[in-house]
Amino acid sequence: MKRVAVLTSGGDAPGMNAAIRAVVRTGVARGFEVFAVRGGYTGLIAGEFSSLGPRDVGGIIGRGGTVLGTTRCQQLKTDAGQAAAVEQMRAHDINGLIVIGGNGSQAGACALSRRGLRVVGIASTIDNDLVGTDIAIGATTALDVALEAIDRLRVTASSHKRVFLVEVMGRDSGHLALVAGIAGGAEAIVIPEIEFHPESIADEIRSAYERGKSHAIVVVAEGAKYNVEGLRHYFLEHSQRLGFELRVTTLGHIQRGGAPGVFDRMIATRLGAAAVEHLEQDLHGVLLGIIDGKVNSTALSTVVHTKKPLDTPLLDLASVLAK
Ligand code: F6P
Repeated sequence: MKRVAVLTSGGDAPGMNAAIRAVVRTGVARGFEVFAVRGGYTGLIAGEFSSLGPRDVGGIIGRGGTVLGTTRCQQLKTDAGQAAAVEQMRAHDINGLIVIGGNGSQAGACALSRRGLRVVGIASTIDNDLVGTDIAIGATTALDVALEAIDRLRVTASSHKRVFLVEVMGRDSGHLALVAGIAGGAEAIVIPEIEFHPESIADEIRSAYERGKSHAIVVVAEGAKYNVEGLRHYFLEHSQRLGFELRVTTLGHIQRGGAPGVFDRMIATRLGAAAVEHLEQDLHGVLLGIIDGKVNSTALSTVVHTKKPLDTPLLDLASVLAK
């Protein structure tokens, strides 16, 4: 009997459950015995495996979060933690591991793969900063949540002729902020990848009002050198001179908690099924993502050592559209 385990790790993302469901149902259909690891790598190191059947994953496709639970496991970064994880897999005679998660989780997957485990990663992070996928599970739903908030903020910003700084997640990457800014019609977008001084954002805001706008929305990535707190501080310090009224909203974890939309459910389902197929064909040490609409496999070692480049033409487009 082929025995595989599945875990979710790092920040939860809408669609993780759809991927778990696909792994279980495709796995069972192909003659695998599928095991849940609860609590991410922490559960793996502790050897917390439990059998999962098709009925156990009923009704989860539309639920946000992860029914398996997740952790940011520091122990897996250590030699002893990795050795314990490998030993637990061997002791339970489980031959394959599917890791659903983002950058840190795939770094763990890569380390375990180097230690001889058959590991397949599935790209899932709202940050959308993983190499090997155009879009990761969870990013689209998180963006929809951010857009709903931005649309509402624009309404009140317009009524009061105010400036709103809206902080979105993304850790040290600006992928989420860039798309939220463009799709949300922001007057300015602030991301970690581009060096800027707060005065240049003030210029953008001033010029938006001069062009007749009744509001200014600035979407700010949490990882930018000047995040909303930094910008707020600067703008308040120069408030007499700048003369605009400012409000700040930090969206935070609200972006992670949405129910997955159709796109996330579909890519999660396709990637979950593909992960099982890879293990069946003894293909491992890879991350599965979506490139040009198709399932794509990239070596975990490449994923871990490469930073996903920002879509530069999108950045140029953003500044044209803000006019
Ligand atoms: O990686 C996903 C993410 O939501 C980041 O955007 C954010 O910086 C981080 O996780 C927050 O982590 P935590 O949930 O551990 O506070």
